[in-house]
Amino acid sequence: MKPTVLVAGGTGNLGERIIKALIARGAEVRAIVRKGSKPEKVEYLTELGAKVITVDLSNAEELKQACQGASCVVSALAGLHDVIVDSQTKLLDAAIAANVPRFIPSDYSSDFTKLPEGENRNFDLRKEFHQYLDQSPIAATSILNGAFADILSYGTPLYSVKNYSVGYWGDKSDWKIDFTTMDNTADYTAAAAIDPSIPKILRIASFQISPNELVSVGKDVKQQEFKLVPMGSLEDFSASTKEERAANPEGEKELYPSWQGKQYLHSMFSVQNTPLDNNRYPDVQWTSAIEVISKI
Ligand SMILES: NC(=O)c1ccc[n+]([C@@H]2O[C@H](COP(=O)([O-])OP(=O)(O)OC[C@H]3O[C@@H](n4cnc5c(N)ncnc54)[C@H](OP(=O)(O)O)[C@@H]3O)[C@@H](O)[C@H]2O)c1
Repeated sequence: MKPTVLVAGGTGNLGERIIKALIARGAEVRAIVRKGSKPEKVEYLTELGAKVITVDLSNAEELKQACQGASCVVSALAGLHDVIVDSQTKLLDAAIAANVPRFIPSDYSSDFTKLPEGENRNFDLRKEFHQYLDQSPIAATSILNGAFADILSYGTPLYSVKNYSVGYWGDKSDWKIDFTTMDNTADYTAAAAIDPSIPKILRIASFQISPNELVSVGKDVKQQEFKLVPMGSLEDFSASTKEERAANPEGEKELYPSWQGKQYLHSMFSVQNTPLDNNRYPDVQWTSAIEVISKI
């Protein structure tokens, strides 16, 4: 019998890819969407072959009905406290009430379990949700993928093709940073969602690359010298980002204020995905650094 997986957040960038990957892997997919979700996104999920169910995420009974018979609930929701803590808690409660055996929360991040509180607001929300999740009678699995590889194209100080520069913090010019493409994250998550026995954490990376290696790959790909730029200590970076956060309280209502982007960079230089669980699903085709960087 085909496994049935319920996906929340399927109208989003990662969620849609997870649904595609689940269908490609032979799963029955139920996608829960909300009344206000964009109709063209919802229609697309139906075209892909998902059974779309419109739910009110605050309605426990509706959510429980939607979860009934699923073998895994996958969340790809994105948001702040109201989503990562409040809505995911309702989704988790519904999964438990419907006796769903497995749950994959919307983590898809650097390894926040190794980061102290206060260094990354969006990771702190995950930590808060995990306090509840960890006490729950359901097998939960976090997919920790480092940064999505497309952030290399955002022109951050870490990698800028405009300035031909690669920045690094502390003495970490040889520090390997974890990057995973969204497609690899989605395909791996789909494989995990239909795996009846998965551990609490799965750490993955399409590639791990240091600032020194980025300089060399950038040069090969762009046929241009890249400069390696020391950006100062991680402690100073953390302190200046905290000051920026305190001075911009309106950013607390935004998912990606400027200081949040800096907190992500800080996290990328603070924790690493070791050991990797990449080989657990041998059919996942990992994208290389050159493939990603040559498209920037
Ligand atoms: N590691 C990384 O570098 C990285 C980078 C980016 C994202 N991520 C993570 O990947 C995950 C998915 O992100 P994404 O970029 O795919 O997000 P996205 O494209 O913004 O999609 C967000 C999804 O969440 C739903 N949603 C948002 N607010 C909601 C609410 N209040 N109630 C119910 N549903 C709500 C949206 O539904 P509607 O269509 O109805 O709005 C949509 O389906 C998140 O955990 C995010 O933090 C990781």
